Amino acid sequence: MKLLFLGDVMGRAGRTAIIQRLPHLRKDWRLDFVVVNAENASNGTGVTGAHAKALLDAGADCLTLGDHAFDQKDMLQFIQTEPRVLRPLNYATTAPGKGARVFDAPGGRRVLVAQVLGQVFMRRTFSDPFSAVDKVLRAHPLGGLVNASLIDMHCEATSEKMGMGHYCDGRASVVVGSHTHVPTADAMILPGGTAYLSDAGMCGDYDSVIGMDKAEPLRRFVTGMAKARFSPALGEATLCGLYVETDDRTGKALHVSMFRDGGLLENSWPAA
Ligand SMILES: [Fe+2]
Ligand SMILES: [Fe+2]
Repeated sequence: MKLLFLGDVMGRAGRTAIIQRLPHLRKDWRLDFVVVNAENASNGTGVTGAHAKALLDAGADCLTLGDHAFDQKDMLQFIQTEPRVLRPLNYATTAPGKGARVFDAPGGRRVLVAQVLGQVFMRRTFSDPFSAVDKVLRAHPLGGLVNASLIDMHCEATSEKMGMGHYCDGRASVVVGSHTHVPTADAMILPGGTAYLSDAGMCGDYDSVIGMDKAEPLRRFVTGMAKARFSPALGEATLCGLYVETDDRTGKALHVSMFRDGGLLENSWPAA
């Protein structure tokens, strides 16, 4: 199966790039399943139902969220009507929506997607992500109930992400990090067959400070004083993520490649 994960969509620049380019990417790379992290798609904080629908219509099969899951209040309702949107599995127990789901892919294949929030350096810590992931992977063995599985590990620390990668090695097809908005260069297949990347990076304008117009963050760093609100940078976005090919029978990764398309960041595409 050919899977693409795209990191945090940042504001209008990120949405526009997804809407314009994802339909072509789906076709050109003959993608079977696309997961997009949408937690910053609406003005950089959260995602509205309308923007979530636009990303799904552009060719995302599943949207994951993150610590900003419900910053746009209408997502509290929308997620209950749209099962293709997932919030973190270990979010507050009272949160609406689900953190894991099995999706249908072409050819009768089945894909498990789950997202968890890490605990290290996060503003607010939720429950243990490792036991949450363990439970869901035990319930959906590769080569059994599902043909492939993808875990979106949403957190700050690369150490915690790597820990999750090894924890899932051989049990999930893909473990990919999101949240930091800067891609790491460690795409690999772990010894047990799990494709791994510490962070996918954002789908946003990189002439920015992690997706925000750089003026206000710079002012705050330099002077220690806030003068205005953060607002997303609006230049051309680089789409950033991870491309993975898996074996449908075993669910293990056969090939993994960084994906960066358009915008300021050095581009990188999977080998044809
Ligand atoms: Fe986040
Ligand atoms: Fe984010």
